[in-house]
Amino acid sequence: MSRRLLILGSTGSIGTQALDIVQRSDELDLVGLSAERSWEQLVEQARAFGVDRIALADADAGARASEAWTDGEVLVGAEGLVQMVLESGADLVLNALVGSAGLGPTVATLGEGIDLALANKESLVVGGELVMQLAEATGAQLIPVDSEHSALHQLIAGERAGAVDQLVLTASGGPFRGRSRAELEGVTVEQALQHPTWAMGGKITIDSATLMNKGLEIIEAHHLFGTPYDDIDVVVHPQSIIHSLIHLCDGASLAHLGYPDMRVPISYALHHPDRVDVPIRRLDLAELGSLTFEPPDPEAFPCLRLAYAAGRAGGTAPCILNAANEVAVHAFLQGRLSFLGIAAVVEDTLGQLDARPVRAFESLYEADREAREVATELIADGVAAT
Ligand SMILES: NC(=O)c1ccc[n+]([C@@H]2O[C@H](COP(=O)([O-])OP(=O)(O)OC[C@H]3O[C@@H](n4cnc5c(N)ncnc54)[C@H](OP(=O)(O)O)[C@@H]3O)[C@@H](O)[C@H]2O)c1
Repeated sequence: MSRRLLILGSTGSIGTQALDIVQRSDELDLVGLSAERSWEQLVEQARAFGVDRIALADADAGARASEAWTDGEVLVGAEGLVQMVLESGADLVLNALVGSAGLGPTVATLGEGIDLALANKESLVVGGELVMQLAEATGAQLIPVDSEHSALHQLIAGERAGAVDQLVLTASGGPFRGRSRAELEGVTVEQALQHPTWAMGGKITIDSATLMNKGLEIIEAHHLFGTPYDDIDVVVHPQSIIHSLIHLCDGASLAHLGYPDMRVPISYALHHPDRVDVPIRRLDLAELGSLTFEPPDPEAFPCLRLAYAAGRAGGTAPCILNAANEVAVHAFLQGRLSFLGIAAVVEDTLGQLDARPVRAFESLYEADREAREVATELIADGVAAT
């Protein structure tokens, strides 16, 4: 049966790989596309896929797209993205935005009872409890796109509640795996952007280098699967062949394997519960020879500890962690903050702001605003610069 699909963030790493999946599928009917600023690429995609509605978060980019493209409607601003969700008649939305900007569209999608393929992990980190409650209230399905969570979704599916003792997320370790804290001083943006196994957008690539990505994923897994933090573990696995594993109550452990290619979890999320052909080489274990594992180094990569602590504290703490991290990563990419400064900004921001209970989405937007202000000041004052 054909599904009407809306892709938010179609010009990004996940978005363009999703278009590759759409191109190969008879079952996905594209009804809308969005980007922040990349209006030329977006218009090109709209033409190529015969889409008649696009949205650009940036007003100038939206105006330029409206001039250049008259074959359909151009919606503008954060409200334009939400409007597109509400009016496109989609029965599946892929949220491939980056950062907490993804929360509004996630809420709009689930609130309408529309199924959500979620790449934007920040939605769950920031608003996990409310987002999951919303999905439950409207009956919308939430299928993760993150490779580790897609793996867990598949591994857990066949198990009765209570049979799963522990979730284990694998981490590639990023480009700086094996370095001591002292060896991370002075690393450059170019070095941090060299991910050994995955080709991804800039923000998640830096998060992988600091291990904050794995921290965000722990919080994401906690909300998606209702698993206590004590039962979620992380192991570094540099080959990125095992995407996650679960330990069961009878002593069995199940793992999900495959070459690192995001088209696999994207296809799974867009076709669930069906599976379709994806042109991926079959896994050859003999050729791989060996898979290796090691524990994460908490001293060199403190972001993992900070994420566990924020997750356990609950309330607005994960939202503060995420906002401070977004500001710090942005500053690092612009050369205004050192690599080690990222974790320092996050830790100091969490130290300055009390976690509050989350009663409504408004408390999250307020916590996000406050944390951005504090993190921005810390960076400007050079307090957390080293
Ligand atoms: N890439 C991966 O392999 C991967 C794997 C697992 C999970 N994820 C998650 O998937 C999400 C997307 O990652 P990505 O690597 O695909 O990011 P990306 O390459 O940076 O792409 C982000 C997309 O969102 C748009 N966008 C950025 N900021 C926006 C805003 N404020 N409002 C509206 N649109 C905005 C961008 O538009 P412009 O082109 O105009 O900037 C682009 O289309 C992230 O949450 C990431 O953690 C990614």
